[in-house]
Amino acid sequence: MIDIDRIKEDFLNQKEGVDSLPALNNLKARFLGRKGIITEQLKNLGSLPKEERPLWGKRLNELKRFIEQEIEALRASIIKTEAEEALRRERIDITLPGAFVPPGRPHPVTQVLDEIVEIFRSMGFAVEEGPEVELDYYNFEALNIPKDHPARDMQDTFYIKTDRNAPQRSHPMESDVVLRTHTSPVQIRGMMKRKPPFRFIAPGKVYRCDADISHTPMFHQVEGLMVGEDVTFAHLKGVLEYFIKRLFGEETPVRFRPSYFPFTEPSAEVDIGCIICRGSGCRVCKETGYLEVLGSGMVHPRVFEEVGYDPQKVRGFAFGMGVERLTMLRYGIDDIRLFFENDLRFLRQF
Ligand code: DAH
Repeated sequence: MIDIDRIKEDFLNQKEGVDSLPALNNLKARFLGRKGIITEQLKNLGSLPKEERPLWGKRLNELKRFIEQEIEALRASIIKTEAEEALRRERIDITLPGAFVPPGRPHPVTQVLDEIVEIFRSMGFAVEEGPEVELDYYNFEALNIPKDHPARDMQDTFYIKTDRNAPQRSHPMESDVVLRTHTSPVQIRGMMKRKPPFRFIAPGKVYRCDADISHTPMFHQVEGLMVGEDVTFAHLKGVLEYFIKRLFGEETPVRFRPSYFPFTEPSAEVDIGCIICRGSGCRVCKETGYLEVLGSGMVHPRVFEEVGYDPQKVRGFAFGMGVERLTMLRYGIDDIRLFFENDLRFLRQF
């Protein structure tokens, strides 16, 4: 005799706690698997008296079908519940406020650089670019700074490739390779691909092997060059004075002071009234009342000759300025390294 009711009751009891597919598969294996209770019972039918076999066979098969149906119904319901839960988990409340993404802004040096470019654009200057990895020829030689010229000491050069013992070179392209120490080589490149008259500026990065509170190994310069038949020192003064008053304010005192650069003659440095003490003398201006902001001069005839211009026929003026320095003066910053530490407390102030 087989206790059909008992098996059914066992099944229904065990079914109670099943709420996942793995648990359901276990349940199915226990009753319908190869060694499952129902399967075992069906195998045992043979040991019953012959006349009883059809009856028990029928009842067992009914129970088997019942269990199969129950299991499939439960499977469908588990799948449905799991899908609903997944949907609930994935639901996005689009009415929630979005995550705040703080907006960035241009670096203070970039802001001043952009302003400088804009001021010269307004005076009709084009914008030229040159390579940061530069030939010694463009960086020094063509600018009237030959090897062993003392002016090379003013600019601690990063050499990429050098051959100091090489015999006199026959071709400029065989020269040493450097990180440009100033933007002045763009003067040469710009002149070689143009015909006067023209005026352009050349902003960009420059490199010097130097670091302290007023020097960083990389900084930015803006070079300027204007060439034509009758360009004079008066044009140089007019352009640079206008530029400085736009950058630092109409009331800013401007002074031109004689100086020396190998690629200009005559040369002048331009000073503005000290923005800290307003001219009365302080530590920042070393009691002079003035601060140097840029170098300039009339293009040296040798430089014109180097690019194939006739110094009897064209004249020009050139200038160069350090953007970090101008930014420091503009905002009263006393340590250049602040520009490169990327401390947000500093950068947010601009
Ligand atoms: N190249 C110079 C420097 O880096 C700056 C400079 C001075 C540029 C006078 C000029 C100039 O074009 O005329 O210190």
